[in-house]
Amino acid sequence: MKKDLGVLPAVYPMPVLMVAAYDKDGKINVMNAAWGTICDMDKIALMIDEDHKTTKNIRETGAFSVSLADRAHMAEADYFGIASGNDTPDKFARTGFHEKKSARVNAPIIDEFPLVMECELAEIVNTENLHAVVGRIVGVAAEESVLDAEGKVDASKLNALIFDQFKNGYYVSKEQAGTAWDAGTGLM
Ligand SMILES: Cc1cc2nc3c(=O)[nH]c(=O)nc-3n(C[C@H](O)[C@H](O)[C@H](O)COP(=O)(O)O)c2cc1C
Repeated sequence: MKKDLGVLPAVYPMPVLMVAAYDKDGKINVMNAAWGTICDMDKIALMIDEDHKTTKNIRETGAFSVSLADRAHMAEADYFGIASGNDTPDKFARTGFHEKKSARVNAPIIDEFPLVMECELAEIVNTENLHAVVGRIVGVAAEESVLDAEGKVDASKLNALIFDQFKNGYYVSKEQAGTAWDAGTGLM
């Protein structure tokens, strides 16, 4: 018997995405975004508010990067979701993190996070119900330490943070329960 929880707009798991962009003068800002997902075959959609410093930067430069936050950098990842570049100009510098400009787009790549997507701005969708920044992924780079022997990203090595909107938890998981497009074949 299920208990009625009312209107609870939450799913689990959600990612912990680090969205980074330069302003028009080349100064980096980073924000934490859990409301984001892959769409199409080469795009990522981020439900990020218009008034964030990062969103303003993306509008200015037309580019951004998205890194997966990992357990080792949880404090900084959370800080990127609490402080705003709108009133903390040295937001990134305070972390002591390092960055360099992507060779593909005018956006920063943060050294400390293990996997990064380099994106050019494809579209900003603004409707009554949605403000989404859509990026075209033009490159992905990952630390060797999170790759398997075949060079594929090994989720068990990422230690990627998972956001739990029910209780504001950060989780990590290494357990593979099955294989998609395979676990159900016995019922076909
Ligand atoms: C776990 C977590 C997830 C968040 N996800 C989002 C999100 O998906 N969209 C959004 O607009 N803000 C989100 N935020 C809030 C922004 O990261 C926060 O407002 C931040 O200060 C914006 O930074 P900026 O103004 O420097 O760009 C999240 C914050 C946390 C802690």
